Amino acid sequence: MDRHLIAQGAEGKVFLGKLFGEDVVIKERIARKYRHPLLDAKIRQKRILQETRNMGKARKEGVPIPAVLFVDAANCVIFMEKITPGITVKEFLLKAQDVSKEIMIDLAHKIGRNIALLHNIQCIQGDLTTSNMMIKPFVSLGAELNDSNDIIQEILKNKDVGTVYMIDFGLSFISNLPEDMAVDLYVLERAIGSLHPECSSLFEDILEGYKQNCTKANINLTRLSQVRLRGRKRLAFG
Ligand SMILES: Nc1ncnc2c1ncn2[C@@H]1O[C@H](COP(=O)(O)OP(=O)(O)OP(=O)(O)O)[C@@H](O)[C@H]1O
Ligand SMILES: [Mg+2]
Repeated sequence: MDRHLIAQGAEGKVFLGKLFGEDVVIKERIARKYRHPLLDAKIRQKRILQETRNMGKARKEGVPIPAVLFVDAANCVIFMEKITPGITVKEFLLKAQDVSKEIMIDLAHKIGRNIALLHNIQCIQGDLTTSNMMIKPFVSLGAELNDSNDIIQEILKNKDVGTVYMIDFGLSFISNLPEDMAVDLYVLERAIGSLHPECSSLFEDILEGYKQNCTKANINLTRLSQVRLRGRKRLAFG
């Protein structure tokens, strides 16, 4: 089948391909040679089912998530809707120039809302970074968006980012513990701090969107303060 590699992570490969003539994203979990082959197949199958199950649950809840079109559990492959036109939040923040405060707040609130809706159904994303979220802009009539620069210009012109998708549920799991939700947020805070240090209020604005939509925001944010303290101690004392 015609497909080309777009990303290679620690756990798998991501390709662009076709399914029934439509553009799709194909995500494949690769075998770990150091594991016994049968055990390895079992682990990968379990993970892929967990990933697609959590994507389905979250989508039902109203979180923008690519639709899972087909799962080949035996070969550990997921076929999903391609977010197009789309750009990762990471690429947008690294490349876009002169982004207005209005757009940054729109983006942050949508991210915060998505995380809140996930936590409301006890879904911990497990790997919240800006490369695991994508922006799909509203496209004006007749506009042709051929590359990421065109997409960025469209977003800036609209003064609205459009839809923010959560795309990578490979490490997601179900838990109702405030600790797990707080760590989920803390991972994102650290990722933003290291990848986008100039976006100083982005995380605070994300928390604003989170507070407005998460039923247990108070408990989870109190817990986040404790997780931050532990993180600082670890940094200070090793
Ligand atoms: N549904 C999708 N539509 C469009 N692009 C996608 C989609 N899913 C993934 N991508 C692109 O592929 C990249 C990797 O996808 P994903 O995060 O799911 O895999 P991964 O194995 O965790 O990779 P990484 O380790 O880079 O995070 C994304 O950052 C995004 O650029
Ligand atoms: Mg990823």
